[in-house]
Amino acid sequence: MMKEHASSSRDPGMEALAALRLGLLRVHDRLLRTLPGQRAAHRRLPGEVMLEVTDRCNLACRFCFNQQYVQRRGVQQELDTDAIRGVLQGLAASGLRVVRFTGGEPLLRGDIVTLMRHARELGFAVWLNTNGTLLDDRLARRLAGLVNNILIPLNGADADADGRACGNDGDHFRRKLRGVRMLLEQGAPRVRLGTVATGPNIAALGRLHQLVVSLGVHDWELFRVVPQDPDHQPTSHQDVAQLGRALWAIRRETGLRYFIANAIPFCAWDPERLAPLALGAVADDGHSRFVIDSAGRARPMYYIDTDLGSILDGGLPAVWHHPFMRRMRALGQVPQACRGCPYLRRCKGGSRLAARLATGSPRGLDPLARPEVVRAIASSGRRAG
Ligand SMILES: C[S@@+](CC[C@H](N)C(=O)[O-])C[C@H]1O[C@@H](n2cnc3c(N)ncnc32)[C@H](O)[C@@H]1O
Ligand code: SF4
Repeated sequence: MMKEHASSSRDPGMEALAALRLGLLRVHDRLLRTLPGQRAAHRRLPGEVMLEVTDRCNLACRFCFNQQYVQRRGVQQELDTDAIRGVLQGLAASGLRVVRFTGGEPLLRGDIVTLMRHARELGFAVWLNTNGTLLDDRLARRLAGLVNNILIPLNGADADADGRACGNDGDHFRRKLRGVRMLLEQGAPRVRLGTVATGPNIAALGRLHQLVVSLGVHDWELFRVVPQDPDHQPTSHQDVAQLGRALWAIRRETGLRYFIANAIPFCAWDPERLAPLALGAVADDGHSRFVIDSAGRARPMYYIDTDLGSILDGGLPAVWHHPFMRRMRALGQVPQACRGCPYLRRCKGGSRLAARLATGSPRGLDPLARPEVVRAIASSGRRAG
């Protein structure tokens, strides 16, 4: 994959630049892998809080858990600038260090730069999830100076695929890539791309990777498709195996280590091969962070609708120590079959939402989990974990 990329018909100067960029990416990969939540999962504070500053979005991605959640709940009145400033001040006073602006599409808010600047003044590391399509030169320059870490979804290897995934005419794709380049040119400290591992994206993984490398971003992450519908399991065991093989092939050929960043049972494929590719459920389901919605109500994750109360009432401690969150962090929702598994610390039994959808209970088995595979490895005397 990378060989194809490196041997394209560019001039030697460009190739030397590409080699340098690849070297830098490798260093980045080793130094900067950790999500804030992974360092803080067991502390008295969450690693980060995600602020959904709007429900509105200019795209309509078919797989988007957030839009589906908003459709179920209905669009609500957004907190205004002063109210969000107040939320930020309360979070800062509680000792939180990382705040992520997300949505909906946060760049639809006219006051987004004001809000992020306020967050920086309060001492936060500012993270941003944006689809990147609304960036222009001026905004990219301002964001590059304010935001520590930006995650932009890459939903297709070309305009057609992106358009099919996100219901647009393909021009969004061009604008997104332009936005990514502008952020990098302006010196944004860390720009990541994230790809939801739908069937078409897994099939196009090599091309997606070439695009990622050619853009020169700092990192790329893969996400298991979080399911929404009890009757439809969007990711199969074959998909996981295909994704795992493709990621291992990239590692072998380029030395670049990319990860599946959200909850996936390590036993969905050969766990000894999947565990090194997966960050586990550490950043999901309320284990190390939570979401505040556009009206100030907290919930464990984008797609889990358990109401943890309004941040305007009890502040961060009331949300973080809510019985649901304590139970989740104590692994009280993990199924019996996962107890004693050597992968449990990171895997956490996969996705509790997927388990609930498939079995009716959050303590059920994630439909991709096959704990018998782990047991078979253990009883065969092979090392697991
Ligand atoms: C809900 S979006 C909101 C922020 C912003 N509009 C964006 O596109 O990044 C946040 C992230 O969730 C990811 N996402 C949405 N639906 C998903 C799903 N069903 N499974 C996994 N990730 C998903 C998106 O790709 C995006 O990276
Ligand atoms: S048995 Fe449970 S904890 Fe172990 S890898 Fe499978 S899903 Fe994860």
